[in-house]
Amino acid sequence: MSVSPAAVAASQQVSAAVSAPVSTPTQADLLDFVRRTAADADLIASLALDPEGRTWVRLEGPGGSEAWLIGWPPGTGTGWHDHADSVGAFVTAAGELKENSLAVRLPADGWKTLELTDDVDRERRLPAGKGRSFGRHHVHEVLNESADQHAISVHAYYPPLPQIRRFSRSGPILRLEQVERPEDWQ
Ligand SMILES: [Fe+2]
Repeated sequence: MSVSPAAVAASQQVSAAVSAPVSTPTQADLLDFVRRTAADADLIASLALDPEGRTWVRLEGPGGSEAWLIGWPPGTGTGWHDHADSVGAFVTAAGELKENSLAVRLPADGWKTLELTDDVDRERRLPAGKGRSFGRHHVHEVLNESADQHAISVHAYYPPLPQIRRFSRSGPILRLEQVERPEDWQ
């Protein structure tokens, strides 16, 4: 029995339609990926570390996600930023990171400064092996507060980050400083 090209095409369309939702990584998928990647001792050891600044290598994340292996010298951090509509996950592979985050959704546009209420700050310590995932519009800064130890972490975002908004902060006042696009960090 022969199968017509049209029938083959139709069956491929059906399988593509069925598999599409599975290929969109969830927060749980990203967290699973960063945990498994952080457990790859050879990969973690392969990252070049620089005492003067962060180092990074882009990784292939699951389902077309954007992933990074990042090295953090003592005393370095990201500054406050958000991740647009992407969800994400990260885990500390070596050393310890601290995350300060905001439990509030920021307005999308039309503002330059915001006064935060005093109940929105969250912080968590992430020693080696600890990580977290986050939903859309997550706002945070990540720091290596150690005086003498590098930290290494694995991060993943889906969809790949279209932009990052960067903020400065003075007490409760958050100020929008700049908007970065992928060409700024790739
Ligand atoms: Fe981030």
